[in-house]
Amino acid sequence: MIFIANWKSNGSLRINKEWCDNFKNKIKLNSKNFIGVAPSYIHFQNIKNQLKELDIKVGAQDVDAHGGARTGSINIDMLSDLNCDFVIIGHSERRLFFGEDSATIKSKLESIYKKKILPIVCVGESYNDNKKGKTHKVLESQLIELFSHDQISQEIFIAYEPIWAIGTGLTPNSETVNEIHQFIKDRVQFHTKNNIIPSVLYGGSVTTSNIKDFSSQKHIDGVLVGGASLDGNTFADLVNKIGD
Ligand code: PGA
Repeated sequence: MIFIANWKSNGSLRINKEWCDNFKNKIKLNSKNFIGVAPSYIHFQNIKNQLKELDIKVGAQDVDAHGGARTGSINIDMLSDLNCDFVIIGHSERRLFFGEDSATIKSKLESIYKKKILPIVCVGESYNDNKKGKTHKVLESQLIELFSHDQISQEIFIAYEPIWAIGTGLTPNSETVNEIHQFIKDRVQFHTKNNIIPSVLYGGSVTTSNIKDFSSQKHIDGVLVGGASLDGNTFADLVNKIGD
């Protein structure tokens, strides 16, 4: 099972030290699990140092597709310098608050492929699209824009994150998520040139109470966790619920 902690714009040196101490005390590592943490860029190296004795991946929450005269941005060469293990792109908060469209996200993805870093590509429908029964249609068009005709020679993760489930305490039921993940795998296989099948994570109000339910579904390969990952004890509890 894959567990990714997305800390968003949270954390401080003090909070992160407490997180790592609590997490290290509590976590029961299991070689079948892939565990990743995405702190802010500014805390990246600090977290990497604190977790270095554990088999935990440390990644970034975003990347700029280009370098050079782009004030305030971080590019993939910089992340690669720091041995960044994965990069999340296309999160709905980036799409909404930073105006990122599929073309922007696709160019980020291409820059990540060049460095062979693992991308975690987020897709998901809005509340209105969900209510109108358009979830599959929206997802298929997002997937076509990002992957169509690509020859992908590395592992990729896709995170299915219904926008209405992020930070709200609402979730689709696990059977519905399972069916949607199967659809995502099928569509990526269909649209990529070399018919790859990605691992698909679910994100949106994952907690210690619902993790077992999600993890029991065949096509839910992992979870992307926001709020419930901000406390080291809680995130360790969440991971520990899934033994082998
Ligand atoms: P949440 O966030 O777990 O707080 O709903 C998930 C995400 O945005 O990745």
